[in-house]
Amino acid sequence: MWHGRFKKDMAESVRDFTQSLDIDWRMAECDIQGSMAHVKMLGQTGLLKVEEAEKIQEGLKKVLAEIHEGKFTPSESLEDVHMNIEARLTEIEPLGAKLHTARSRNDQVATTTRLYLRERLKTLDGDLKNFLKTLKANAERHLNIIIPGYTHMQQAQPISMGHYWLAWYEAFKRDSERLNFALDSLNECPLGAGALAGSTLNINREMTSDLLGFARPTRNSLDTVASRDYMLDYHYFASVLMTHVSRLCSDLITWNTQEFAFIILPDEFCTGSSMMPQKKNPDVLEISRGKTGQVIGHMLDLFINLKGLPMTYNRDLQEDKRGLWASLDTVESVIKILNDLLIRVEVDEEKALAGLSKGYSLATDIAEYLVAKGVPFREAHLKTGKLTAWCIENNLSFSDLTFSQWKENIPEIDEGIMKILSPRDSVARRNTYGGTGFAQVQRQLNEI
Ligand code: ARG
Repeated sequence: MWHGRFKKDMAESVRDFTQSLDIDWRMAECDIQGSMAHVKMLGQTGLLKVEEAEKIQEGLKKVLAEIHEGKFTPSESLEDVHMNIEARLTEIEPLGAKLHTARSRNDQVATTTRLYLRERLKTLDGDLKNFLKTLKANAERHLNIIIPGYTHMQQAQPISMGHYWLAWYEAFKRDSERLNFALDSLNECPLGAGALAGSTLNINREMTSDLLGFARPTRNSLDTVASRDYMLDYHYFASVLMTHVSRLCSDLITWNTQEFAFIILPDEFCTGSSMMPQKKNPDVLEISRGKTGQVIGHMLDLFINLKGLPMTYNRDLQEDKRGLWASLDTVESVIKILNDLLIRVEVDEEKALAGLSKGYSLATDIAEYLVAKGVPFREAHLKTGKLTAWCIENNLSFSDLTFSQWKENIPEIDEGIMKILSPRDSVARRNTYGGTGFAQVQRQLNEI
């Protein structure tokens, strides 16, 4: 083995306990990508002969090909992805023994993980952009459909269903910005930081950084091997995103109940019950909501790992990846399946409006009508509130009232009130910037 320090081999139990191959093998390609840049730099700076560097690159390409062809079976006895690849390289090409010149696994793992996370975030960025497109398309499809809007889960005011979808568009748009912030914060190259303090050899850190497509090399070698806050930035993005997912799912689950019943979920995205033949369960939405805690948990896991760690690298950091992968895999699968489900959601406007007709969600419209006639808002609020109570006692809705009943309750009212009592007009009238009025929703769509 490559260790001169020990007289005895590592105990098998310790090897099993400390290996990280099961977590980090998925970064094999990124590890080779990092090594290719490193060895190229070693050649160009004269630390290796150009021919030596080229031979090592050829060797690395062969290892990569073996991985692609499924011919490479890594071994846990070699601890991790880095040692496995280096060992196989050196079998194929003995000059591989020079690859680790001026490098430590501490700067290597930091580089490899950033490369891997960058790839995954770029894919996720695409998925999230698709998701945003779907929300926009839904807003266009449902622009003219009216549903009850809720505060405290009580009917509040009628809104455009398009407005609802665009509310989520805004939230997920901010998530997409947070994703790009996470991409920015990983955009510095750790290679060359060495184990912690840099190298006595005259390497060129700008070169490896450029070759790997990073914006610049990291500025402090101690910080480079010790820090993982670029991962925390990912986890924060993911946790906020999943919190949004969870709330969206809750709405759709509620609106899909028999009691609300104004959302129609696609059959192919629902499940039946093994016992109750009538059931059409929204399991995709429930599972998505249910996975949210895990994603937030992975963020907490890393915070708790990091909070007591002394400068600089500690092996605790090897545990940073387990939660990161789990989180990435979860977020990716949730965004994809929700996207496919949302494209197919339909709204039953008749049922949504039926829900509205029994409520008093036009009360604010009445108060504001009075305000336009010169009644102070507080007074208008009081009078409309009393009228609502009177209607409830007499089992009437606002649209059941005759004009003389209106007059009896609110003397300041005039005939015009009879013309403003439809939910559609109510929505159309809320034409303030960002409001639910159809023209406003259309403006938001145009701006997107
Ligand atoms: N497998 C380790 C990790 O994921 C990298 C190896 C660093 N090991 C060490 N003893 N310095 O963090």
